[in-house]
Amino acid sequence: MASSSSTSVFLVFSSLLIFSTLLYVSEADYSAPIVKGLSWDYHHKTCHKVEKIVRKHLKKVFKEDIGQAAGLLRLHFHDCFVQGCDGSVLLDGSHGGPSEQTAPPNQSLRKQAFSIIEDLRNLVHRECGRVVSCADIVALAARDAVHLSGGPNYDVPLGRKDGLSFATQNATLNNLPAPTSNASTILSALATKNLTPIDVVALSGGHTIGVSHCSSFTPRLYPTQDPTMEKTFAHGLKEVCPTNTTNATTIMDIYSPIKFDNKYYVDLMNRQGLFTSDQDLYTHEVTKPIVESFAHDEKLFFEEFVKAMIKMGQMEVLTGEKGEIRAHCSIRNHDNKGYFSYLVEEEDQSDLESRAELLYVMCRLVAGEDDSGGELEHHQSLTNETERMDPQIRAQIARLEARISRVEARMEKLEVSVRYLQRRMYVYGFVCLMSVLYAIFK
Ligand code: HEM
Repeated sequence: MASSSSTSVFLVFSSLLIFSTLLYVSEADYSAPIVKGLSWDYHHKTCHKVEKIVRKHLKKVFKEDIGQAAGLLRLHFHDCFVQGCDGSVLLDGSHGGPSEQTAPPNQSLRKQAFSIIEDLRNLVHRECGRVVSCADIVALAARDAVHLSGGPNYDVPLGRKDGLSFATQNATLNNLPAPTSNASTILSALATKNLTPIDVVALSGGHTIGVSHCSSFTPRLYPTQDPTMEKTFAHGLKEVCPTNTTNATTIMDIYSPIKFDNKYYVDLMNRQGLFTSDQDLYTHEVTKPIVESFAHDEKLFFEEFVKAMIKMGQMEVLTGEKGEIRAHCSIRNHDNKGYFSYLVEEEDQSDLESRAELLYVMCRLVAGEDDSGGELEHHQSLTNETERMDPQIRAQIARLEARISRVEARMEKLEVSVRYLQRRMYVYGFVCLMSVLYAIFK
């Protein structure tokens, strides 16, 4: 039984992967300019494996549970719409107030989505050091969620920094449209975010995967049934949610709930859209023809969806000197004292290591080897630099932040070379000692 269900999950997942290779939108296909500070190859030099790491891990996660893809896609939307794509939705609350996560629209975000992002951050930072922001990881995870569910593959501009604060409850509520809104409300709310009606209809297509709680659509069932809702569809929903207080979930696209395709628009044309904000797109005169065109042409939907996602993914991003790269996605670095004191110890460790290297070079000199590679000078400056930093570290932990990512990446290489040096030091120590003895007894 267990093996037959895992075989069918595997088959569904593999067929999604095969379908999903059909459309790939590269940076060359995206003609609109991208926001200053972001670039398509931002992590090329510092973490060229980031996209591979994210995709490899998510393939594993989705093979177990493809439902997690919907959670990650929605997380990116909720991040970007509130205060821009700055990872602020990931932050825990603090003395500054309750986090965005506790605001009503975010309470139904999947808890696992947050832990998947933290797992990804951990994998990426372990490989490259603290050079990729949580906000970038969320954007990449959303892209892979779409692609690995059968949707288009596309390049994502990268280089976002993580925000230093989260939005208030009110700001969160005001920026995330309610499912009870009609199309006019949604269009004008999203126009303030520079999204066109085509973007709105395309992004709403995100509802082709995932689930919803009853509370998001029971106002359409009770006390009176929304007349625009198809009757058997309404009947099925009432079975899942027999009262307006039932806490259950149902799929959002009745045709193909785990496949990223254009069937959501077919649902709307059949009056089987789940929320008012979905169904009304097929009533409003501006959005109705767009719904029809996407229902008839999946390739067109994919193209417009990708454009709209890239646009959404650049909303109010922090770049360059603004923001930071969090060491943990749910905690601002400033509040993350435990992590930074751990790094100070690591820095002390590397201080010792550079002193060991210096000793080794001096022994080589005593043993009569030349310093044509300038190693002594190099190690001397390394030591001086570390010595200069010591009081600064104690005085100002914040200044360490800029060095931490480099230190982490260098630690592993240093460990290998220190072990190598230690072995050689025994040999040179012996030569050194013999030279000294020879000089004394000559
Ligand atoms: C246009 C306005 C939007 C409204 C009013 C809206 C509303 C909602 C609501 C109420 C839910 C169900 C929450 C629950 O009860 O569990 C939901 C789920 C979802 N939304 Fe939206 N949404 C909108 C736009 C978007 C966009 C732009 C995307 C992504 C591109 C998106 C992706 C999703 C996904 C994937 C789910 C399923 C999540 C899961 O299964 O965990 N939504 N949305």
